[in-house]
Amino acid sequence: MDFITDIKLRTNDPVQAASIVKDALKKYKVIKVIPEWYLGDLRTFYDTFVDQLGEATYDAEDFTKGGIKTFERWSEIRYDADIPDMAAYRHSKNAQPLHTDESYVSDPADVMLFYCVNKAIKGGSTTFIDANVLVNYMTENAPELLQKLTTTKVRYKKANEERTEKIIDIKESGQIHFNFNYYCIDKDETEENKALNKEFFDFLQTYVAHSHMIEGVTLNPGEAVLWWDELVLHGRNSYDVAKTNDRFIWKTGFKWIK
Ligand SMILES: [Fe+2]
Repeated sequence: MDFITDIKLRTNDPVQAASIVKDALKKYKVIKVIPEWYLGDLRTFYDTFVDQLGEATYDAEDFTKGGIKTFERWSEIRYDADIPDMAAYRHSKNAQPLHTDESYVSDPADVMLFYCVNKAIKGGSTTFIDANVLVNYMTENAPELLQKLTTTKVRYKKANEERTEKIIDIKESGQIHFNFNYYCIDKDETEENKALNKEFFDFLQTYVAHSHMIEGVTLNPGEAVLWWDELVLHGRNSYDVAKTNDRFIWKTGFKWIK
């Protein structure tokens, strides 16, 4: 699979748009969708769009209740001036380290989607690194860490969900899968695995997150980005805002149906 592409939509029909994007998802790990037609109500458009692409399994979480599921398909990622910046990435303007979204989800979504309502004054791109690029870099620069990450299973956990995978899993087909969110490691994991989680986090922050290997996607209102959660790591650049809702994105995820 190739890493990333743009798709320009010359339609406001969500069924037609989804059929174009579905084909592209077979070839690309990350897709930015750029509507060139007026879409009207974004929720109406993207609800139908997502229904056409896969099976909605995503459940939003309430961060004020320890991440408990809300049984809503759409989850808000928006700047909120009333929530302290360090309390939740979802409501802050800070940069967010590289991770996968479904690290602790036992029945994970395959593909994640953001659509943008309001764009930050400055910054706020979603950042991606391709698995092949990262593994090549690590083969050259951090072979011992790569060896540990590709052979050790690590458990991530949040609320009542957990999942145990290799942080970097190189499948027989050669496809590389990630399962990683530094902050979500099970607090009952072994000290050794906690140290490995931290070592990878520090490596990414020091050598990767701000490097030339990163591709940034900034969304204008109406635009979307879709990505295969396990096939890339993603994060976020910090951004500037003046007031609540100055950056506003809706997120969901779905199961891929062939
Ligand atoms: Fe994320």
